[in-house]
Amino acid sequence: MSAALCLLLGLTALMSPAAEALDNGLALTPTMGWLHWERFMCNVDCDKEPDTCISERLYMQMADVMAKEGWKEAGYEYVCIDDCWPSHQRDAQGRLQADPKRFPGGIKKLADYVHSKGLKLGIYADLGKNTCAGYPGSLGYYETDAQTFADWDVDLLKFDGCYMDWTLLGEGYMNMSKALNKTGKSILYSCEWPLYEWPFKQPNYTAIRETCNHWRNFADVYDSWSSVKSILEWTASHQDIIVPSAGPGGWNDPDMLVIGNFGLSHDQQESQMALWAIMAAPLLMSNDLRDICPRSKELLQNRHIIAISQDPLGKQGYRTAKVDSFEVWERPLSKNRLAVAVLNMQEIGGPRGFAIRTAPGWKICDPRCNVTQILPQYKEMGVQTPQSQMVLSVNPSGTALLTVTPISSDFKGRQKLHWQDTSVKRKHATIL
Ligand SMILES: *[C@@H]1O[C@H](CO)[C@@H](O)[C@H](O)[C@H]1NC(C)=O
Ligand SMILES: *[C@@H]1O[C@H](CO)[C@@H](O)[C@H](O)[C@H]1NC(C)=O
Ligand SMILES: *[C@@H]1O[C@H](CO)[C@@H](O)[C@H](O)[C@H]1NC(C)=O
Ligand SMILES: *[C@@H]1O[C@H](CO)[C@@H](O)[C@H](O)[C@H]1NC(C)=O
Repeated sequence: MSAALCLLLGLTALMSPAAEALDNGLALTPTMGWLHWERFMCNVDCDKEPDTCISERLYMQMADVMAKEGWKEAGYEYVCIDDCWPSHQRDAQGRLQADPKRFPGGIKKLADYVHSKGLKLGIYADLGKNTCAGYPGSLGYYETDAQTFADWDVDLLKFDGCYMDWTLLGEGYMNMSKALNKTGKSILYSCEWPLYEWPFKQPNYTAIRETCNHWRNFADVYDSWSSVKSILEWTASHQDIIVPSAGPGGWNDPDMLVIGNFGLSHDQQESQMALWAIMAAPLLMSNDLRDICPRSKELLQNRHIIAISQDPLGKQGYRTAKVDSFEVWERPLSKNRLAVAVLNMQEIGGPRGFAIRTAPGWKICDPRCNVTQILPQYKEMGVQTPQSQMVLSVNPSGTALLTVTPISSDFKGRQKLHWQDTSVKRKHATIL
Protein backbone atom coordinates (compact mmCIF):
# COMPACT_ATOMS: atom_id res chain seq x y z
CA MET A 1 0.00 0.00 0.00
CA SER A 2 1.36 3.41 -0.88
CA ALA A 3 2.14 5.86 1.88
CA ALA A 4 -0.42 8.25 0.45
CA LEU A 5 -3.15 5.61 0.51
CA CYS A 6 -2.19 4.67 4.07
CA LEU A 7 -2.48 8.26 5.13
CA LEU A 8 -5.82 8.59 3.37
CA LEU A 9 -7.19 5.49 5.10
CA GLY A 10 -5.94 6.73 8.45
CA LEU A 11 -7.66 10.05 7.96
CA THR A 12 -10.84 8.34 6.81
CA ALA A 13 -10.88 6.34 10.04
CA LEU A 14 -10.59 9.54 12.05
CA MET A 15 -13.46 11.05 10.10
CA SER A 16 -15.71 8.01 10.17
CA PRO A 17 -18.92 8.41 12.15
CA ALA A 18 -19.00 7.45 15.81
CA ALA A 19 -19.66 3.84 16.85
CA GLU A 20 -23.12 2.32 16.52
CA ALA A 21 -25.80 4.28 18.33
CA LEU A 22 -28.71 2.82 20.26
CA ASP A 23 -31.13 1.80 17.53
CA ASN A 24 -34.48 3.15 18.71
CA GLY A 25 -34.90 5.79 16.02
CA LEU A 26 -34.66 8.66 18.54
CA ALA A 27 -32.36 11.60 19.31
CA LEU A 28 -31.06 11.88 15.73
CA THR A 29 -30.36 15.48 16.74
CA PRO A 30 -29.85 16.61 20.36
CA THR A 31 -33.01 16.37 22.48
CA MET A 32 -34.86 19.63 23.15
CA GLY A 33 -37.28 20.23 25.99
CA TRP A 34 -37.75 21.19 29.60
CA LEU A 35 -36.73 19.33 32.79
CA HIS A 36 -37.84 20.32 36.28
CA TRP A 37 -34.77 19.59 38.43
CA GLU A 38 -32.49 22.63 38.58
CA ARG A 39 -35.33 25.11 39.09
CA PHE A 40 -37.89 23.12 41.11
CA MET A 41 -35.77 20.37 42.73
CA CYS A 42 -37.64 18.21 45.25
CA ASN A 43 -40.31 20.63 46.42
CA VAL A 44 -43.16 18.36 47.51
CA ASP A 45 -45.06 20.83 49.70
CA CYS A 46 -48.10 21.55 47.57
CA ASP A 47 -50.04 22.99 50.51
CA LYS A 48 -47.58 25.83 51.04
CA GLU A 49 -46.30 26.21 47.45
CA PRO A 50 -48.91 24.95 45.01
CA ASP A 51 -47.34 26.74 42.03
CA THR A 52 -43.82 25.38 42.37
CA CYS A 53 -44.25 21.94 43.95
CA ILE A 54 -43.67 18.74 41.97
CA SER A 55 -47.23 17.98 40.87
CA GLU A 56 -49.14 17.21 37.69
CA ARG A 57 -50.18 20.86 37.62
CA LEU A 58 -46.59 22.01 37.11
CA TYR A 59 -46.10 19.87 33.98
CA MET A 60 -49.55 20.71 32.60
CA GLN A 61 -48.87 24.42 32.97
CA MET A 62 -45.40 24.07 31.41
CA ALA A 63 -46.92 22.14 28.49
CA ASP A 64 -49.58 24.86 28.05
CA VAL A 65 -46.93 27.58 27.86
CA MET A 66 -44.67 25.52 25.60
CA ALA A 67 -47.51 24.99 23.13
CA LYS A 68 -48.73 28.60 23.30
CA GLU A 69 -45.62 30.75 23.42
CA GLY A 70 -43.43 29.58 20.58
CA TRP A 71 -41.40 26.96 22.45
CA LYS A 72 -42.81 24.02 20.51
CA GLU A 73 -42.29 25.82 17.19
CA ALA A 74 -38.69 26.57 18.21
CA GLY A 75 -38.14 22.80 18.67
CA TYR A 76 -38.60 22.24 22.44
CA GLU A 77 -40.58 19.02 22.56
CA TYR A 78 -40.11 17.03 25.78
CA VAL A 79 -41.71 18.04 29.11
CA CYS A 80 -39.67 16.09 31.64
CA ILE A 81 -40.33 15.01 35.20
CA ASP A 82 -37.25 14.51 37.41
CA ASP A 83 -36.96 12.96 40.89
CA CYS A 84 -39.66 13.08 43.61
CA TRP A 85 -42.75 12.19 41.55
CA PRO A 86 -43.48 8.68 42.93
CA SER A 87 -45.19 7.42 45.97
CA HIS A 88 -42.83 5.96 48.58
CA GLN A 89 -44.49 2.55 48.07
CA ARG A 90 -44.85 0.40 44.98
CA ASP A 91 -48.40 -0.89 44.36
CA ALA A 92 -49.67 -4.41 45.12
CA GLN A 93 -48.30 -5.65 41.76
CA GLY A 94 -44.86 -4.17 42.50
CA ARG A 95 -45.29 -1.27 40.08
CA LEU A 96 -44.20 2.30 40.66
CA GLN A 97 -47.09 4.68 41.23
CA ALA A 98 -47.24 8.44 41.25
CA ASP A 99 -47.78 10.24 44.56
CA PRO A 100 -51.59 10.20 44.77
CA LYS A 101 -51.92 13.63 46.34
CA ARG A 102 -49.65 15.49 43.92
CA PHE A 103 -50.60 13.48 40.80
CA PRO A 104 -54.31 12.69 41.35
CA GLY A 105 -54.82 11.89 37.64
CA GLY A 106 -51.81 9.58 37.43
CA ILE A 107 -49.02 9.61 34.86
CA LYS A 108 -51.00 8.09 31.97
CA LYS A 109 -53.49 10.95 32.07
CA LEU A 110 -50.67 13.47 32.31
CA ALA A 111 -49.01 11.89 29.25
CA ASP A 112 -52.30 12.12 27.35
CA TYR A 113 -52.57 15.79 28.29
CA VAL A 114 -49.01 16.57 27.20
CA HIS A 115 -49.57 14.66 23.94
CA SER A 116 -52.75 16.64 23.30
CA LYS A 117 -50.54 19.73 23.18
CA GLY A 118 -48.32 18.10 20.55
CA LEU A 119 -45.52 17.53 23.10
CA LYS A 120 -43.88 14.50 24.73
CA LEU A 121 -43.57 13.43 28.37
CA GLY A 122 -40.36 12.41 30.12
CA ILE A 123 -40.11 10.56 33.43
CA TYR A 124 -37.34 9.75 35.93
CA ALA A 125 -36.19 6.59 37.69
CA ASP A 126 -33.01 5.18 39.19
CA LEU A 127 -30.80 2.18 38.47
CA GLY A 128 -30.18 1.45 42.15
CA LYS A 129 -32.07 0.65 45.33
CA ASN A 130 -33.37 4.22 45.72
CA THR A 131 -33.56 7.40 43.70
CA CYS A 132 -31.15 10.14 44.75
CA ALA A 133 -33.91 11.78 46.81
CA GLY A 134 -34.84 8.48 48.49
CA TYR A 135 -37.87 7.31 46.47
CA PRO A 136 -38.09 3.67 45.30
CA GLY A 137 -35.32 2.68 42.89
CA SER A 138 -35.65 0.26 39.98
CA LEU A 139 -33.04 -2.32 40.98
CA GLY A 140 -34.69 -5.72 40.52
CA TYR A 141 -37.63 -4.11 38.68
CA TYR A 142 -36.15 -3.01 35.35
CA GLU A 143 -38.61 -4.95 33.17
CA THR A 144 -41.60 -4.07 35.34
CA ASP A 145 -40.74 -0.37 35.35
CA ALA A 146 -39.95 -0.23 31.62
CA GLN A 147 -43.33 -1.86 30.91
CA THR A 148 -45.10 0.51 33.31
CA PHE A 149 -43.61 3.54 31.55
CA ALA A 150 -44.56 2.10 28.16
CA ASP A 151 -48.11 1.41 29.39
CA TRP A 152 -48.33 5.01 30.56
CA ASP A 153 -47.21 6.12 27.08
CA VAL A 154 -44.15 7.93 28.44
CA ASP A 155 -41.65 9.09 25.76
CA LEU A 156 -38.37 9.57 27.64
CA LEU A 157 -36.70 8.03 30.69
CA LYS A 158 -33.98 9.80 32.66
CA PHE A 159 -32.30 6.94 34.54
CA ASP A 160 -30.18 8.11 37.47
CA GLY A 161 -27.43 6.08 39.15
CA CYS A 162 -27.70 6.72 42.91
CA TYR A 163 -27.54 3.86 45.44
CA MET A 164 -25.91 1.46 42.99
CA ASP A 165 -22.78 -0.69 43.25
CA TRP A 166 -20.53 1.06 40.70
CA THR A 167 -19.20 -2.23 39.31
CA LEU A 168 -22.75 -3.04 38.11
CA LEU A 169 -23.41 0.32 36.42
CA GLY A 170 -22.75 -0.97 32.90
CA GLU A 171 -24.76 -4.13 33.39
CA GLY A 172 -27.65 -2.19 34.91
CA TYR A 173 -27.80 0.51 32.24
CA MET A 174 -27.61 -2.16 29.51
CA ASN A 175 -30.31 -4.27 31.15
CA MET A 176 -32.69 -1.29 31.34
CA SER A 177 -31.91 -0.42 27.72
CA LYS A 178 -32.94 -3.97 26.72
CA ALA A 179 -36.03 -3.79 28.93
CA LEU A 180 -37.12 -0.56 27.25
CA ASN A 181 -36.54 -2.09 23.82
CA LYS A 182 -38.58 -5.16 24.80
CA THR A 183 -41.66 -3.02 25.46
CA GLY A 184 -41.81 -2.31 21.72
CA LYS A 185 -42.32 1.40 22.37
CA SER A 186 -39.48 3.75 21.45
CA ILE A 187 -38.56 5.53 24.68
CA LEU A 188 -35.69 8.01 24.63
CA TYR A 189 -33.11 6.79 27.14
CA SER A 190 -31.12 9.38 29.10
CA CYS A 191 -28.33 7.86 31.22
CA GLU A 192 -25.87 8.92 33.91
CA TRP A 193 -23.59 5.90 33.54
CA PRO A 194 -20.29 7.75 32.88
CA LEU A 195 -20.95 10.35 35.60
CA TYR A 196 -21.08 7.61 38.24
CA GLU A 197 -18.23 5.57 36.71
CA TRP A 198 -15.59 8.31 36.21
CA PRO A 199 -14.47 8.35 39.88
CA PHE A 200 -13.41 4.69 39.49
CA LYS A 201 -12.43 4.11 35.87
CA GLN A 202 -12.57 5.56 32.37
CA PRO A 203 -16.02 4.68 31.00
CA ASN A 204 -16.38 2.67 27.80
CA TYR A 205 -18.02 5.21 25.48
CA THR A 206 -18.51 2.66 22.71
CA ALA A 207 -20.73 0.62 25.02
CA ILE A 208 -22.46 3.74 26.37
CA ARG A 209 -23.31 4.93 22.85
CA GLU A 210 -24.78 1.50 22.02
CA THR A 211 -26.95 1.68 25.15
CA CYS A 212 -28.16 5.26 25.68
CA ASN A 213 -29.45 8.26 23.68
CA HIS A 214 -27.54 10.71 25.86
CA TRP A 215 -25.40 10.46 28.92
CA ARG A 216 -24.33 12.78 31.73
CA ASN A 217 -20.55 12.89 32.27
CA PHE A 218 -20.06 15.46 34.98
CA ALA A 219 -21.62 17.15 38.03
CA ASP A 220 -25.14 18.67 38.12
CA VAL A 221 -25.42 22.18 36.73
CA TYR A 222 -26.18 24.95 39.25
CA ASP A 223 -27.59 28.38 38.56
CA SER A 224 -24.17 30.06 38.52
CA TRP A 225 -21.41 31.07 36.12
CA SER A 226 -18.85 29.10 38.12
CA SER A 227 -20.92 25.95 37.55
CA VAL A 228 -21.25 26.58 33.79
CA LYS A 229 -17.51 27.31 33.58
CA SER A 230 -16.61 24.10 35.44
CA ILE A 231 -18.72 22.07 32.99
CA LEU A 232 -17.01 23.72 30.00
CA GLU A 233 -13.57 23.11 31.49
CA TRP A 234 -14.35 19.46 32.24
CA THR A 235 -15.66 18.96 28.72
CA ALA A 236 -12.65 20.59 27.05
CA SER A 237 -10.17 18.67 29.18
CA HIS A 238 -11.85 15.33 28.29
CA GLN A 239 -12.76 16.17 24.68
CA ASP A 240 -10.43 13.63 23.07
CA ILE A 241 -12.29 10.88 24.96
CA ILE A 242 -15.89 12.08 24.77
CA VAL A 243 -16.30 14.08 21.52
CA PRO A 244 -15.86 11.08 19.17
CA SER A 245 -18.72 9.25 20.90
CA ALA A 246 -21.31 11.89 19.97
CA GLY A 247 -23.39 11.63 16.82
CA PRO A 248 -26.94 11.04 15.60
CA GLY A 249 -28.71 8.80 18.13
CA GLY A 250 -26.36 9.52 21.06
CA TRP A 251 -24.96 12.66 22.72
CA ASN A 252 -22.83 13.86 25.59
CA ASP A 253 -25.08 15.64 28.10
CA PRO A 254 -23.53 18.58 30.01
CA ASP A 255 -26.86 19.00 31.91
CA MET A 256 -29.64 21.57 31.82
CA LEU A 257 -29.79 25.11 30.47
CA VAL A 258 -30.25 27.46 33.42
CA ILE A 259 -31.04 30.46 31.20
CA GLY A 260 -33.96 32.54 32.49
CA ASN A 261 -33.24 31.97 36.18
CA PHE A 262 -31.26 34.05 38.71
CA GLY A 263 -27.57 33.26 38.57
CA LEU A 264 -26.29 34.18 35.10
CA SER A 265 -25.87 37.65 33.61
CA HIS A 266 -27.26 38.08 30.11
CA ASP A 267 -23.79 37.68 28.60
CA GLN A 268 -23.32 34.46 30.59
CA GLN A 269 -26.71 33.20 29.39
CA GLU A 270 -25.58 33.84 25.82
CA SER A 271 -22.38 31.92 26.56
CA GLN A 272 -24.30 28.93 27.88
CA MET A 273 -26.64 28.88 24.88
CA ALA A 274 -23.80 29.24 22.35
CA LEU A 275 -21.55 26.64 23.95
CA TRP A 276 -24.36 24.10 24.48
CA ALA A 277 -25.08 24.41 20.74
CA ILE A 278 -21.37 23.98 19.91
CA MET A 279 -21.23 20.90 22.20
CA ALA A 280 -24.23 19.30 20.42
CA ALA A 281 -25.77 19.08 23.89
CA PRO A 282 -29.37 18.25 24.68
CA LEU A 283 -31.17 21.58 25.18
CA LEU A 284 -33.21 20.84 28.29
CA MET A 285 -34.24 24.09 29.94
CA SER A 286 -34.82 24.18 33.68
CA ASN A 287 -36.58 27.45 34.39
CA ASP A 288 -40.07 28.79 34.94
CA LEU A 289 -41.51 29.32 31.47
CA ARG A 290 -44.61 30.92 33.04
CA ASP A 291 -42.44 33.80 34.21
CA ILE A 292 -39.34 34.37 32.11
CA CYS A 293 -37.78 37.64 30.99
CA PRO A 294 -38.26 38.44 27.28
CA ARG A 295 -34.50 38.59 26.55
CA SER A 296 -33.92 35.11 27.95
CA LYS A 297 -36.91 33.81 26.01
CA GLU A 298 -35.62 35.35 22.80
CA LEU A 299 -32.19 33.81 23.39
CA LEU A 300 -33.60 30.34 24.09
CA GLN A 301 -35.75 30.58 20.95
CA ASN A 302 -32.98 32.00 18.73
CA ARG A 303 -33.42 29.96 15.54
CA HIS A 304 -29.85 30.56 14.32
CA ILE A 305 -28.37 29.06 17.50
CA ILE A 306 -30.89 26.21 17.47
CA ALA A 307 -29.91 25.49 13.84
CA ILE A 308 -26.32 25.00 15.01
CA SER A 309 -27.48 22.75 17.86
CA GLN A 310 -29.63 20.65 15.53
CA ASP A 311 -27.23 20.58 12.57
CA PRO A 312 -27.78 17.35 10.60
CA LEU A 313 -24.07 16.48 10.36
CA GLY A 314 -24.34 15.65 14.07
CA LYS A 315 -20.74 16.27 15.07
CA GLN A 316 -19.92 17.68 18.49
CA GLY A 317 -17.66 20.74 18.59
CA TYR A 318 -14.63 21.16 20.81
CA ARG A 319 -12.20 23.73 22.16
CA THR A 320 -9.56 24.53 19.55
CA ALA A 321 -7.61 27.35 21.17
CA LYS A 322 -7.05 29.09 24.47
CA VAL A 323 -5.18 32.34 24.16
CA ASP A 324 -5.02 35.65 26.03
CA SER A 325 -8.01 34.66 28.24
CA PHE A 326 -10.10 33.87 25.17
CA GLU A 327 -11.36 30.38 24.39
CA VAL A 328 -12.19 29.40 20.82
CA TRP A 329 -14.66 26.54 20.34
CA GLU A 330 -15.52 25.22 16.88
CA ARG A 331 -18.14 22.83 15.56
CA PRO A 332 -18.13 21.34 12.04
CA LEU A 333 -21.54 21.80 10.40
CA SER A 334 -23.20 20.32 7.33
CA LYS A 335 -22.31 21.74 3.89
CA ASN A 336 -18.70 22.23 5.03
CA ARG A 337 -19.67 25.11 7.26
CA LEU A 338 -18.17 25.81 10.66
CA ALA A 339 -19.62 27.37 13.81
CA VAL A 340 -17.08 29.38 15.82
CA ALA A 341 -17.62 30.60 19.38
CA VAL A 342 -15.18 33.02 20.98
CA LEU A 343 -15.58 33.21 24.74
CA ASN A 344 -14.01 36.04 26.74
CA MET A 345 -12.89 34.45 30.03
CA GLN A 346 -11.43 37.67 31.49
CA GLU A 347 -13.81 38.72 34.25
CA ILE A 348 -12.43 42.23 34.70
CA GLY A 349 -12.54 45.26 32.43
CA GLY A 350 -14.79 45.81 29.47
CA PRO A 351 -15.31 44.26 26.02
CA ARG A 352 -12.11 43.01 24.39
CA GLY A 353 -11.25 42.57 20.72
CA PHE A 354 -10.44 39.20 19.15
CA ALA A 355 -8.87 39.04 15.68
CA ILE A 356 -10.94 36.35 13.99
CA ARG A 357 -8.19 35.33 11.55
CA THR A 358 -6.36 33.79 14.56
CA ALA A 359 -9.14 31.21 15.13
CA PRO A 360 -7.75 27.78 14.09
CA GLY A 361 -10.78 26.98 11.91
CA TRP A 362 -10.34 30.22 9.97
CA LYS A 363 -8.31 28.26 7.41
CA ILE A 364 -11.58 27.34 5.71
CA CYS A 365 -11.61 31.00 4.63
CA ASP A 366 -8.85 30.23 2.13
CA PRO A 367 -9.46 31.54 -0.45
CA ARG A 368 -12.72 33.12 0.75
CA CYS A 369 -15.63 32.57 3.12
CA ASN A 370 -18.96 34.13 4.01
CA VAL A 371 -19.44 35.01 7.67
CA THR A 372 -22.63 35.48 9.68
CA GLN A 373 -22.48 36.70 13.26
CA ILE A 374 -25.23 35.27 15.45
CA LEU A 375 -24.23 36.55 18.90
CA PRO A 376 -24.12 39.08 20.45
CA GLN A 377 -26.39 40.21 17.61
CA TYR A 378 -27.27 38.94 14.17
CA LYS A 379 -25.14 40.58 11.51
CA GLU A 380 -24.07 39.49 8.04
CA MET A 381 -20.33 40.18 7.89
CA GLY A 382 -20.00 39.26 4.20
CA VAL A 383 -17.11 37.75 2.34
CA GLN A 384 -13.80 37.42 4.21
CA THR A 385 -10.34 36.09 3.36
CA PRO A 386 -7.46 34.52 5.32
CA GLN A 387 -6.08 38.03 5.93
CA SER A 388 -9.40 39.35 7.28
CA GLN A 389 -9.01 42.35 9.58
CA MET A 390 -12.33 41.56 11.26
CA VAL A 391 -12.17 42.00 15.06
CA LEU A 392 -14.92 40.64 17.29
CA SER A 393 -15.82 42.59 20.40
CA VAL A 394 -16.58 40.17 23.24
CA ASN A 395 -17.95 41.19 26.66
CA PRO A 396 -16.46 39.72 29.86
CA SER A 397 -17.88 36.17 30.29
CA GLY A 398 -19.77 36.68 27.03
CA THR A 399 -19.46 34.91 23.70
CA ALA A 400 -19.37 35.92 20.05
CA LEU A 401 -20.88 33.21 17.84
CA LEU A 402 -20.37 32.97 14.07
CA THR A 403 -21.09 30.63 11.21
CA VAL A 404 -18.50 30.47 8.47
CA THR A 405 -19.27 29.16 4.98
CA PRO A 406 -16.31 28.44 2.69
CA ILE A 407 -16.48 29.83 -0.84
CA SER A 408 -14.17 28.08 -3.25
CA SER A 409 -13.77 27.93 -7.02
CA ASP A 410 -12.48 24.33 -7.05
CA PHE A 411 -14.82 23.36 -4.24
CA LYS A 412 -14.72 19.54 -4.47
CA GLY A 413 -11.01 19.04 -3.88
CA ARG A 414 -10.76 21.63 -1.16
CA GLN A 415 -13.68 20.61 0.91
CA LYS A 416 -12.15 17.17 1.66
CA LEU A 417 -8.79 18.60 2.56
CA HIS A 418 -10.21 21.07 5.01
CA TRP A 419 -12.13 18.44 6.97
CA GLN A 420 -9.16 16.14 7.10
CA ASP A 421 -7.18 19.01 8.57
CA THR A 422 -9.84 19.56 11.21
CA SER A 423 -9.95 15.88 12.19
CA VAL A 424 -6.21 15.69 12.56
CA LYS A 425 -6.19 18.82 14.60
CA ARG A 426 -8.81 17.38 16.92
CA LYS A 427 -6.43 14.54 17.81
CA HIS A 428 -3.99 17.09 19.11
CA ALA A 429 -6.49 19.41 20.67
CA THR A 430 -5.32 18.78 24.23
CA ILE A 431 -1.90 20.19 23.51
CA LEU A 432 -3.56 23.54 24.13
C1 LIG B 1 -35.10 -2.76 19.51
O1 LIG B 1 -33.80 -3.07 19.03
C2 LIG B 1 -33.78 -3.50 17.67
C3 LIG B 1 -32.36 -3.96 17.34
O2 LIG B 1 -31.41 -3.02 17.74
C4 LIG B 1 -34.24 -2.34 16.80
O3 LIG B 1 -34.24 -2.72 15.44
C5 LIG B 1 -35.65 -1.95 17.21
O4 LIG B 1 -36.08 -0.83 16.47
C6 LIG B 1 -35.67 -1.60 18.70
N1 LIG B 1 -37.04 -1.31 19.12
C7 LIG B 1 -37.34 -0.30 19.92
C8 LIG B 1 -38.78 -0.16 20.25
O5 LIG B 1 -36.51 0.47 20.39
C1 LIG C 1 -28.60 -7.92 34.11
O1 LIG C 1 -29.23 -9.01 33.45
C2 LIG C 1 -28.55 -10.25 33.63
C3 LIG C 1 -29.23 -11.27 32.74
O2 LIG C 1 -30.59 -11.36 33.03
C4 LIG C 1 -28.58 -10.62 35.10
O3 LIG C 1 -27.87 -11.84 35.32
C5 LIG C 1 -27.91 -9.50 35.90
O4 LIG C 1 -28.01 -9.77 37.28
C6 LIG C 1 -28.55 -8.17 35.60
N1 LIG C 1 -27.83 -7.11 36.30
C7 LIG C 1 -28.39 -6.04 36.81
C8 LIG C 1 -27.52 -5.06 37.52
O5 LIG C 1 -29.58 -5.83 36.72
C1 LIG D 1 -16.19 -1.45 25.13
O1 LIG D 1 -17.46 -1.84 24.71
C2 LIG D 1 -17.48 -2.42 23.41
C3 LIG D 1 -18.94 -2.56 22.96
O2 LIG D 1 -19.72 -3.12 23.93
C4 LIG D 1 -16.71 -3.72 23.43
O3 LIG D 1 -16.72 -4.32 22.15
C5 LIG D 1 -15.28 -3.41 23.87
O4 LIG D 1 -14.57 -4.60 24.01
C6 LIG D 1 -15.25 -2.64 25.18
N1 LIG D 1 -13.90 -2.18 25.43
C7 LIG D 1 -13.26 -2.40 26.56
C8 LIG D 1 -11.89 -1.84 26.69
O5 LIG D 1 -13.77 -3.01 27.48
C1 LIG E 1 -23.54 35.28 2.73
O1 LIG E 1 -24.51 34.80 3.66
C2 LIG E 1 -25.68 35.59 3.71
C3 LIG E 1 -26.54 35.06 4.85
O2 LIG E 1 -26.84 33.70 4.67
C4 LIG E 1 -26.38 35.56 2.37
O3 LIG E 1 -27.53 36.37 2.41
C5 LIG E 1 -25.41 36.06 1.30
O4 LIG E 1 -26.00 35.96 0.03
C6 LIG E 1 -24.12 35.28 1.32
N1 LIG E 1 -23.16 35.87 0.41
C7 LIG E 1 -22.38 35.12 -0.41
C8 LIG E 1 -21.43 35.87 -1.26
O5 LIG E 1 -22.45 33.90 -0.47
